Amino acid sequence: MYRRVSILMRKHFVSVLVLCVAMIASLSVKAADPAKGKTLFQQNCASCHNVHKQVTGPALKGVEERWSDKKLLRQWIHNSGSVIASGDPYAVKLFNDFNKQAMPGFPSFTDADIDDILAYIADESTKGPATTKVDPAAAAGGAGEDSGNNSLLFGIITLILAVVALILMQINSSLNKLAADKDGVAVPEPVPFYKNKAYIALLILVLFIVGGYYTINGAIGLGRQKDYMPKQEIFFSHRVHAGVNQINCLYCHAGAEKSKHAMIPSENICMNCHKTISEYSGTPELFTAEGQKVNGSAEIQKLYDHVGWDKTSQQYTKPGKPIEWTKIHNLPDHVYFNHSQHIVAGKQQCQTCHGAITEMDEVHQFAELSMGWCVNCHRTTKVQFADNKYYSIFEQFHQQVKEGKIDSVTVEMVGGTECQKCHY
Ligand code: HEC
Ligand code: HEC
Ligand code: HEC
Ligand code: HEC
Ligand code: HEC
Ligand code: HEC
Repeated sequence: MYRRVSILMRKHFVSVLVLCVAMIASLSVKAADPAKGKTLFQQNCASCHNVHKQVTGPALKGVEERWSDKKLLRQWIHNSGSVIASGDPYAVKLFNDFNKQAMPGFPSFTDADIDDILAYIADESTKGPATTKVDPAAAAGGAGEDSGNNSLLFGIITLILAVVALILMQINSSLNKLAADKDGVAVPEPVPFYKNKAYIALLILVLFIVGGYYTINGAIGLGRQKDYMPKQEIFFSHRVHAGVNQINCLYCHAGAEKSKHAMIPSENICMNCHKTISEYSGTPELFTAEGQKVNGSAEIQKLYDHVGWDKTSQQYTKPGKPIEWTKIHNLPDHVYFNHSQHIVAGKQQCQTCHGAITEMDEVHQFAELSMGWCVNCHRTTKVQFADNKYYSIFEQFHQQVKEGKIDSVTVEMVGGTECQKCHY
């Protein structure tokens, strides 16, 4: 009888484990993930879309309700041209309303990616529009924090499962002993689990692996500074300049198209406009990350103090001294990174690497700038051959695409993960 219970227990032990694993698996493939969607949105859509207000494209608040069919909406994001071509009346009207400005297609997105983005939009739609006051935690933490919550959840589930497994193993061994007693077989008294050498060894091993993992990760991360947001001498808001007033990034960072460095503009570029703009209208209201109100006009005066401009006599009266901007992005010296290669040949958007700059009052470092970050993008980004003279040297790929051997070419295939391309 006891033997049977014991066998039963053993069977159950396995099925409970299987059940638990299935539970975890089902949790991890659970529907759309708005945190992932937020990252995708900021990297691919934020240059033209805002959830609450119309920018280049329409405000996306409640967009799912405007589309009769989610499949069609997905197809739109994959390739809006194909939906317009199919003659869908809503799509055609939208296209005409926006001056027949075609939205770029995102053929590499999976349905899951798109659902993540839509989940983010839906989440964001329920919140009010972002107030002018920047929430420093949200601005700095971003998607990272949301995924942090998830790993905490998985951690707790794992812990609970481990305890359940331990208890089941204890019950199993006691039942075994009872069964053996009943049959009259002499079995040594079971060792309590805290004295059991196997358990102790296992515990030490687990601690070693977990500890090692965090130590190594910490060591690799030394010198990285994602979210770094130093205080600058002048409170210069990208939201006011590149966002509200729509000044092109390249007007100030012309180097991004021509050279390795994007470069920070010199004071005379500021003065092109600020000889006439000496006061700040006060909208949008500006706040520091700590929530202190900023007086924009006083900040413009600081610019004048630097260049020695007198705004009443409208002329330079003193010799200037340069503004000392604190550099935010810093790759180590052993890495070669070239902006023009990514902007001109690679056709990448600033926002993909720098985040939603047009919504930042103070710039913070958006990407990790780790080697994994560079290499992962090179593995997944498809080279855009169309109208791209830079790639005429890679004619062989054209041939292979034509012959159907490959269907697209990633940066990796043109050498983007060779060590010497990034390291001197
Ligand atoms: C270069 C600018 C641009 C980018 C980048 C862009 N869009 Fe658009 N989007 C538009 C424009 C413009 C329209 C309006 C329709 C048209 O003119 O084709 C639009 C329309 C839409 C619509 C339909 C809105 C409605 O009211 O029904 C959706 C949904 C959409 N975009 C989603 C996205 C998503 C998701 C991304 C990122 C993966 C994205 N867009 C990236 C410009 C852009
Ligand atoms: C009116 C001029 C101007 C415009 C327009 C402008 N920037 Fe800037 N940008 C600056 C100045 C000045 C700084 C240095 C101060 C700071 O970090 O805020 C800067 C800093 C930056 C930095 C951080 C550099 C570092 O120290 O590592 C990035 C990234 C950046 N800008 C990206 C952009 C992008 C992307 C756009 C377009 C959406 C843009 N900028 C538009 C003037 C401008
Ligand atoms: C492929 C990713 C990527 C793209 C796209 C990109 N940047 Fe950068 N940006 C970086 C990295 C990496 C650094 C740090 C470079 C360093 O430390 O040498 C940087 C640094 C900067 C800086 C600091 C000054 C400098 O040149 O080091 C500015 C300003 C800047 N970027 C602006 C821009 C603008 C404007 C655009 C769009 C026209 C843009 N970036 C597009 C990755 C990118
Ligand atoms: C292409 C024109 C243009 C250029 C170039 C420009 N600005 Fe501005 N700036 C503006 C406009 C427009 C406003 C908003 C005025 C308003 O709303 O009243 C503004 C506002 C400001 C403000 C007050 C709001 C804030 O961001 O704190 C400061 C400070 C400022 N600019 C500094 C600078 C500096 C420093 C540079 C050079 C790196 C610069 N600007 C370059 C057009 C420009
Ligand atoms: C957002 C995606 C993206 C990120 C992030 C990115 N790159 Fe790139 N990179 C590209 C694309 C696209 C090209 C293709 C352009 C070309 O072939 O020149 C490229 C090309 C290059 C090349 C030339 C490769 C060749 O075969 O000629 C180098 C070097 C490079 N990247 C370095 C870096 C470094 C260093 C980083 C990280 C600091 C980085 N990239 C991050 C997209 C990215
Ligand atoms: C696409 C660009 C790119 C390529 C290709 C690349 N690296 Fe890196 N590597 C980087 C960047 C960026 C860093 C700096 C990471 C940081 O600061 O954390 C780095 C850092 C390193 C470091 C210092 C340790 C660290 O993580 O900071 C070593 C060692 C290294 N790379 C070796 C290699 C080797 C070996 C290869 C070829 C297999 C290679 N790299 C290919 C971009 C690249």
